[in-house]
Amino acid sequence: MNCKFVLFCLTTLSFFTLASCKTPYYVPTEQTLAQCSENGYKTSLEELTKGRDLYMGKCGKCHSLYKPKQFSGEQWKINLSKMQPKAKITDDEKWLIFAYVNNCGAQK
Ligand code: HEC
Repeated sequence: MNCKFVLFCLTTLSFFTLASCKTPYYVPTEQTLAQCSENGYKTSLEELTKGRDLYMGKCGKCHSLYKPKQFSGEQWKINLSKMQPKAKITDDEKWLIFAYVNNCGAQK
């Protein structure tokens, strides 16, 4: 068998294995960003990634992290406003976290 073909199969296989192994705390990609602009969110990959970092860093201290999918956009807004004083985050940080957990209103 051709060596390149084997390599191709292995690459394809690992791609699908990785793609199907979804973490609940998804990592934003260009695809996420495309969905964001479709939904009218003005954001960037850096912002979404920063939102993820902030979420992971500031929101798991008192309770375990809730999954982005666990709440609707409206519920996240309410929860984030309740948690803002607890997590001592600024309005900007709150927005970044919101854009991440709500995945710009797109499918997760
Ligand atoms: C200082 C501790 C503390 C920090 C930091 C904190 N939380 Fe909480 N969180 C709580 C407590 C206590 C509750 C449960 C009581 C309540 O609802 O007020 C809670 C509840 C929640 C709930 C569940 C609400 C519901 O209706 O089920 C969500 C979602 C949540 N937090 C998200 C977050 C997010 C997002 C952050 C980061 C911005 C965060 N929390 C940071 C203490 C904290």
